[in-house]
Amino acid sequence: MDPVTKKREYRDDYDDKTLYIPGPTEVRDDVIEAMTESTFGHRMDRMTDLYTTIVEDTKEFLGTDNEVVILTGSGTEFWEATTLNLVDEHLLVPTCGAFSERYANVAERLGKTVHRLEYEWGEAVKPEDVREAIETADVNYDMVAGVMNESSTGVRNPIEEIGDVLKEYPDTYFAVDAVSCLGGDYINIDAHGIDAIFASTQKAFAMPPGLAVCVVSDDAYDREVEKGDSSWYGGFRRTIDYYDRKGQTHSTPAIPIMLAYRQQMKHMLDEGHRARDERHREMMEYVHDWADEHFAMFPEDGYESQTVACVENTRGIDVAATIEEVNEEYDMAFSNGYGDLGEETFRIGHMGEHTVESVTELTDAIEDVADL
Ligand SMILES: Cc1ncc(COP(=O)(O)O)c(C=O)c1O
Repeated sequence: MDPVTKKREYRDDYDDKTLYIPGPTEVRDDVIEAMTESTFGHRMDRMTDLYTTIVEDTKEFLGTDNEVVILTGSGTEFWEATTLNLVDEHLLVPTCGAFSERYANVAERLGKTVHRLEYEWGEAVKPEDVREAIETADVNYDMVAGVMNESSTGVRNPIEEIGDVLKEYPDTYFAVDAVSCLGGDYINIDAHGIDAIFASTQKAFAMPPGLAVCVVSDDAYDREVEKGDSSWYGGFRRTIDYYDRKGQTHSTPAIPIMLAYRQQMKHMLDEGHRARDERHREMMEYVHDWADEHFAMFPEDGYESQTVACVENTRGIDVAATIEEVNEEYDMAFSNGYGDLGEETFRIGHMGEHTVESVTELTDAIEDVADL
């Protein structure tokens, strides 16, 4: 195979860019600094102190009595693990954008039979459609795989209501990709029958990339115990049993990122789940008003994401050129539309530590560059 990619030297002189992309996002300085402790062993007592701290802090922050697994990797790991741990053959995937479609692709790659409930990009999944899909299917779905925050379209799906529907079908497990919103969009996990919900640390948790977090119900754990072909790396039983016995992870984790996690979790606990939700809601409302004034919001009304705004380019600005100029002149990075939506939309990640003030700095820059 002819290599297409050539080595490009990493330099020492990059300008810092303020990140308004849909993740990674800005990380506090003290959280970055927390990673510089000297290395220690993953089987030392010190590791148990660290891992039990971050696991229990996460439960406290999210207000859940379920188990929490934190693994080196990213949210993608739990597309695979939830599928392997919870599905024998059939699963229902409501698809409404690139990430839900990829969840379906992963399950197909793992040999499962995927039944899609398809929506146009920009539309949200409706709980009554999920109920109808289950009622009219001639198979039992082992799992419904939902995406809470479709980062490609800026849609926040009504996961709570879908979970309430699924409570009526106890043989169907509910897995939720909350990769780009958990920590910035309040969800009462235990109240809505969610069996597994997962996120990546570089999004609304505002940590460096490199860890995946998953909250696992007792039912999901029990379900996997019966299965011979569940995930090894992301197996609920393996990871949770290891935690119960040793307070550690089954294999060597990215310890520096766990140190950063511990530091950021202090900030998140200080602020609280509800207050973080409120701050993200304010950012969403601000960007919504701004978009209404200059463009339009892309998602279906009432389903706008609290962490990723997808703005419809109703004025036909040159999105790529605007992004580049804002980057050059203001050292701020935001994103074009996803895939085919490249020039039709643009996306602003207002997650993690951002505030209405910091987001206003970006929208001012866009106004200046695009001459709005
Ligand atoms: C909704 C959603 N799911 C999954 C992923 C994949 O996450 P990661 O790259 O952290 O594995 C992303 C990434 O942006 C996402 O937005």
